[in-house]
Amino acid sequence: MRTLFAKLSAALLLVVALIGGGFFLVEQFSTRLYYEEVTQRLNASIAMYVTGEMQLIEEGTVNEEALTLLAQRAMIINPTVEVYLLDREGQILAHAMPPESIQTDQVELAPIKELMGGETAMPLRGTDPRNTDRQKIFSAHPVMHNEKLQGYLYAVLGGQKYDELASSVRGSYVQKLSIGALVAIVLAAFLVGLLVFGLLTRRLTRLTGEVKEFTDSGFDPQTIAPATRQPRPNSEARDEIDQLREAFSGMACKIREQFEGLEETDRLRRELVSNVSHDLRTPLASMHGYVETLLLKNDSLSEEERLRYLQITRKHSLRLRKLIGDLFELSKLDSASVQPSLEWFSLAELLQDVTQEFELQAEQKGIGIEVNARPEASMVCADIGLMQRVLENLLRNAVRYTPRGGTITINLDKKPGCVSVAVADTGCGIAEQDLERIFDRFYRSEQGEEERSNSAGLGLAIVKRILDLHGSRITVSSTVNVGTRFEFDIPAQAA
Ligand SMILES: Nc1ncnc2c1ncn2[C@@H]1O[C@H](COP(=O)(O)OP(=O)(O)OP(=O)(O)O)[C@@H](O)[C@H]1O
Ligand SMILES: [Mg+2]
Repeated sequence: MRTLFAKLSAALLLVVALIGGGFFLVEQFSTRLYYEEVTQRLNASIAMYVTGEMQLIEEGTVNEEALTLLAQRAMIINPTVEVYLLDREGQILAHAMPPESIQTDQVELAPIKELMGGETAMPLRGTDPRNTDRQKIFSAHPVMHNEKLQGYLYAVLGGQKYDELASSVRGSYVQKLSIGALVAIVLAAFLVGLLVFGLLTRRLTRLTGEVKEFTDSGFDPQTIAPATRQPRPNSEARDEIDQLREAFSGMACKIREQFEGLEETDRLRRELVSNVSHDLRTPLASMHGYVETLLLKNDSLSEEERLRYLQITRKHSLRLRKLIGDLFELSKLDSASVQPSLEWFSLAELLQDVTQEFELQAEQKGIGIEVNARPEASMVCADIGLMQRVLENLLRNAVRYTPRGGTITINLDKKPGCVSVAVADTGCGIAEQDLERIFDRFYRSEQGEEERSNSAGLGLAIVKRILDLHGSRITVSSTVNVGTRFEFDIPAQAA
């Protein structure tokens, strides 16, 4: 009784039994009414006909003989007729029935008058003198003498004879047949209903099975039947169960996607933690080693060695400071709390300041820095501090990855609604397979141990994040051993 099908079947059985039972009762009741109306209409004139035959009451005296004769005749025409002679108040004056079978000698006059008045709804029932518990259809007519009302002739239709006959017929073949037919129809309706419910709930049962299998499998969308995964092209033929299926399959794919997303985030988090701890541990261990040596062998070390050890320790501590600073900056940029504070400034002027920072370093490596910018056409609306970080990171990379004698070119171009920035170098370039990963955190392409120890792989991730915050996108194009070019747009003052 726990499945939907069982519940629907029980409800159907109840409904079918109620309809069948109700129909049976209505049929019994209406058959009786129908019979009574037809009989009353057919025999309406019986009393009139009988009274017209003979004078039954003369000045208050009943002609018993005539009444008995007429009653017999009437009973020959219709064996269920019982004839009574009433006075003007409805008192029974005479009848042809065995006297002991009469329970009352008073017949209600109102229905008699109503019937005689005509235009009444039939069947109309009146007193049955042989059974006061119920009323019977009847026929009635006034008995007149010398144009004076003497009383009434009252004929009960469907009297005791009818009752005896009806009760013997009740168990008869026809009755049995009609009950049998009714039961058969009810059963057939129930069976057809069961079949229909079975067909309808079958898909629902299958869907429930799939949902269960999907849950048990740890949310693997492959467990969903292909029919469920592909929506039916004909949308007209889709009913609620099809829609439910589609909604479920969409939900399953979404759950899987989110699962995979969570797994990916988790993987990245682990990678980040392991990268961070590695990059922190290496310089720390090295610093520790040199400081220990300095402490233990302080006396035996020459001044030169001591200085060299201290310089190495300083280099590592600087590297640690940069790494921690970069990580802190990235996490700050990631948190929703940081919003760029936009202001108008000249990008050309900012660029000049930034290039100055790298001039010495570039000169030492024999690298030329060329800036093509017109200050009047480089007004932008951005966060000046963050933009400085972007330019610094790009220039630091360009200087770092460009060999001696190379050139770095920075172009600012006025475009409609923005200023386009391009930082190009003639450096080592980036291999094609690395291009899409260089903006990932801690991603460094294959490089020498010396280079690796100086870089964390966070610079471009910071650049990308800052430009994301400004609604801009950075693109890169590069050819190995030829050079690299980074490009992005900054929203500018309208001309
Ligand atoms: N101008 C460039 N020329 C060639 N390779 C580059 C250039 N800029 C970036 N790359 C490559 O992309 C990688 C990622 O750069 P990113 O700035 O994120 O990290 P990094 O420079 O290695 O370290 P950090 O900037 O954190 O000190 C670099 O390791 C380098 O391999
Ligand atoms: Mg860098």
